[in-house]
Amino acid sequence: VSLKNFNTFGINAYAKYFVEINHKEELTELFADAKWHNIERLILGGGSNMLFTQNYNGLVIKINIRGIEHRINHKEVIVEAGAGEIWNSFVNYCVNWGFAGVENLSLIPGSVGASPIQNIGAYGVELKDVFESCEAFEISTGNFVQFKTSDCEFDYRESIFKQSKKGQYIVCSVKFKLSTEENINISYGAIADELKKKDILNPTIKDVSKVVSEIRVSKLPDPSTIGNAGSFFKNPVISEEVFNKLYEQNPNMAHYIVKNGVKLAAGWLIEQCDWKGRIIGNTGTWKNQALVLVNHGDATGNEIFQLSAAIIDSVYTKFGIILEREVNII
Ligand code: EPU
Repeated sequence: VSLKNFNTFGINAYAKYFVEINHKEELTELFADAKWHNIERLILGGGSNMLFTQNYNGLVIKINIRGIEHRINHKEVIVEAGAGEIWNSFVNYCVNWGFAGVENLSLIPGSVGASPIQNIGAYGVELKDVFESCEAFEISTGNFVQFKTSDCEFDYRESIFKQSKKGQYIVCSVKFKLSTEENINISYGAIADELKKKDILNPTIKDVSKVVSEIRVSKLPDPSTIGNAGSFFKNPVISEEVFNKLYEQNPNMAHYIVKNGVKLAAGWLIEQCDWKGRIIGNTGTWKNQALVLVNHGDATGNEIFQLSAAIIDSVYTKFGIILEREVNII
């Protein structure tokens, strides 16, 4: 089966085995067959955070479990969404009902089920801020288990599902704890600036969602026309000591103070190395956001991987910082 339509980079890799799951019970049926236990597996949501550098010699499990429902309890609302729901449809559901908490995460590509895996985040909000729990299929036992926020070890673009429990669980649905009151978060400068430009003094969550969507559209390429997986690298966190030295030489360096040091903008570092908007064969970096690598046509996963390696090299040579890939390399 070709995976071209199942990854937002649009890479034409093939999977040896491929199955779509529409109901969680189908996972029980699938794994009742011992054949699938010792075979390499890949769980696929929207395919918006992976780069296939070769064909996949195992079983690809595409999660399509749908459904969104909510339960209001005074000022709090629990929204439960199937792992296969498109993330932005879920955000729209919440924004239209007036449930606050995920409007800053508007227009992030991918599925609901993938959201806890890498603790997606944007514009001052991370998934962990609104996550209540998720239900996951435990492959080794065939049980469905609950993960609460405290079980997930969430960190910047990290969770237990990418670390010690990697490959052991399949998220079936996620519960979010949102608010029926309009408590918006416009701590991220770009949102506040944009609202000001539009003379919106008392923004609603609809306004925030709209502004975030507009910023994303202006900066990020649309994967339906130009293959990409959003930010290709993580923003690196360095010690204050290393930062102070770099900052002396680069006083205009984008940076944010975080709990364990100083976070730099990988896009800024890449742009300083003259990569922004460059086209190399079928690949390149995006003209408005150097952190995004793109497929300009029929790029192979390897071409994109090689470009990412060249970028890591340049940033290391110029700044002594090793960029870490955010996208999963398959
Ligand atoms: N910058 C440059 N040149 C560039 C890109 C960025 O100088 O080519 C500078 C900007 O001027 C700004 C700073 O870097 O001062 C930060 O840029 P931006 O606001 O675009 O955010 P980012 O740090 O590059 C992160 C997330 C995005 C998320 C935005 C908004 C990561 C790896 N990426 O990007 O998430 O949408 O913040 O919150 O943390 C994703 O994960 O796929 C993703 C798109």
